[in-house]
Amino acid sequence: MAPVTAPVPPPPALPTSGWDPERAGMLQARLERWWPDLWSGLVAVYGEDRAAQTASELVTRAARAYARRPDRLHRRDLERMLRPDWLQEPSMVGYAAYTERFAGDLRGVGERLGYLEELGVTYLHLMPLLRPRDGDNDGGYAVADYREVRADLGTMQDLTALADSLHERGMSLVLDLVLNHVAREHEWARKAREGVLRYRSYFHVFPDRRLPDAYERTLPEVFPDFAPGNFTWDEELDGWVWTTFNEWQWDVNWGNPDVLVEYAQVVLDLANRGVDVLRLDAIAFMWKRLGTDCQGQPEVHALTQVLRAVTRIACPAVAFKAEAIVAPTKLLAYLGEREHTGKVSDLAYHNSLMVQVWSMLAARDVRLAAHALGSLPPKPASATWLTYLRCHDDIGWAIMDEDAAAVGVTGPGHRHFLADWYSGDFWGSPARGLVFQFNPETGDRRTSGTAASLVGIEGAGTPEQLDLAVAALRLAHAVVVGWGGIPVIWSGDELGQVNDPDWASEPGHEDDNRWAHRPRLDLGAMATRHDRSTVSGRVFGDLVGLVRARAALPHLHGSVETRIGPVDDPGVLVTLREHPLGRFAGVYNVTPQERVWPGWRVHELGLDAAVDALTGQPLAWHPDGDVHLPPYAALWLTTP
Ligand code: GLC
Repeated sequence: MAPVTAPVPPPPALPTSGWDPERAGMLQARLERWWPDLWSGLVAVYGEDRAAQTASELVTRAARAYARRPDRLHRRDLERMLRPDWLQEPSMVGYAAYTERFAGDLRGVGERLGYLEELGVTYLHLMPLLRPRDGDNDGGYAVADYREVRADLGTMQDLTALADSLHERGMSLVLDLVLNHVAREHEWARKAREGVLRYRSYFHVFPDRRLPDAYERTLPEVFPDFAPGNFTWDEELDGWVWTTFNEWQWDVNWGNPDVLVEYAQVVLDLANRGVDVLRLDAIAFMWKRLGTDCQGQPEVHALTQVLRAVTRIACPAVAFKAEAIVAPTKLLAYLGEREHTGKVSDLAYHNSLMVQVWSMLAARDVRLAAHALGSLPPKPASATWLTYLRCHDDIGWAIMDEDAAAVGVTGPGHRHFLADWYSGDFWGSPARGLVFQFNPETGDRRTSGTAASLVGIEGAGTPEQLDLAVAALRLAHAVVVGWGGIPVIWSGDELGQVNDPDWASEPGHEDDNRWAHRPRLDLGAMATRHDRSTVSGRVFGDLVGLVRARAALPHLHGSVETRIGPVDDPGVLVTLREHPLGRFAGVYNVTPQERVWPGWRVHELGLDAAVDALTGQPLAWHPDGDVHLPPYAALWLTTP
């Protein structure tokens, strides 16, 4: 893909004759502002000739969507243009849940907003809820129709009503945009199977194994257990179709500009329903190139830039979140590098932080995390991390060999240790995770399990062990909530829910143990959330404490970079953030023993008179002149 250097032609004329001049003027101004991004992204992928026609189609659709956009959403567009850092504010806190598991259906979610408010939630990610295929559908990630809501959850009207209620309470609605694949039952795939050429070209179809075999040489397998290989023979199609995930999830062909136009329309329609953030699911896989792992190809970023320009023109209140679970060095491209800086996704999952938190807790040692997180290049200041401890997916032990080697361990050895530790196979481990997708060829094992089960709440044999596990969970949440960026709580973790023992009993779930950590919200635990004599009460209270403290700390604004402080004790992680208001230091003892933070270091960092935002108290000095950190202690220090 060659960089685009040719001059940008003027934008196509807008179909605004007869419009209110003020409305038309606003759209024209946005078009002029975002047109160069739209154009250059298109040219990079499709070349000038094909770009022109696609550009005018996209602009027409954007204008139509703008004209249909309800006034209250136009107002939201304006507010967000005035506050472009809305995602970076320390008051942003996310919650992610399956609608039915959290509250039955969309109306049920509307009735549970008080609960989310209590947790301080401002960003609600409802897992895929557009109509999926019947039967197994990968938790909704096999969409059969982007224009309908899953019938048992409600209707599009219910979705719009929920978006309104969320907005009234200062919350944003986040939905998935599954853009790498559709269900085999989607209309496009159905028409392709019926032999309609236009739709056959929406997919990657091969008459024989020649190209699939050539691609397979460099392709990894996402689900080696239940969906080995990346291609599926389809009788009706009379060909091999690209299926990165399950055989009923057909990868779409973004090399076809008609596919881009289709998805742009999906985005515009969801935006007009009131969706605020679109999670670009499996975005890394969108573009295929022979001889590569077909992840994160440059075209992915050019296409994201085009989609984003379309939303900036029609509905700038909408932001994009990249779901790219890739090596840390490859992640920044999704937040914008070089010509795409500030032009692609606004948010990205900090997968590396998540993995390193679990690694620190298992190893009781922060050195690997300090090295790995400390060597990440800074993200663009306008972009925001999404930090998390758990989500609906398994944990892949993404420890880079080079990082491991730098601290004297080996990548394979440490990954092996983490997989053993979290499945409870390592001697002394209290974790109760499950092994997900063991790949005998690579030796790779991933892990399923809720935060509480992984941290040892489920496996605690004594009250002391339980206390330690609850403290470890608070510590882990403190790192995630105090990092900077939007912390997203995975439903059930706020109550310390353990793995669902009956996960396999639902039809279609039996082979996929990720369902173990997707429990239904435990209403009993919810009822005791204010009672600190219960586990749910302690976990909930701890989390609310962290969230409240965060909201009051301007130092945690997402634009500020997090640096790793010096490691004096291998059990203590120090993070530093330099905000115009002063320094912030997160101090975390990741071990079940008391640890010492040397007094001279505290002086050197200028934190002698610091206050701990988690307690409101000045830093407590030990008579020996050092700071003693109890097991799993977390401090959020700011200088007055
Ligand atoms: C993403 C989702 C995962 C799903 C996959 C395919 O990685 O998080 O749950 O299986 O995409 O859509």
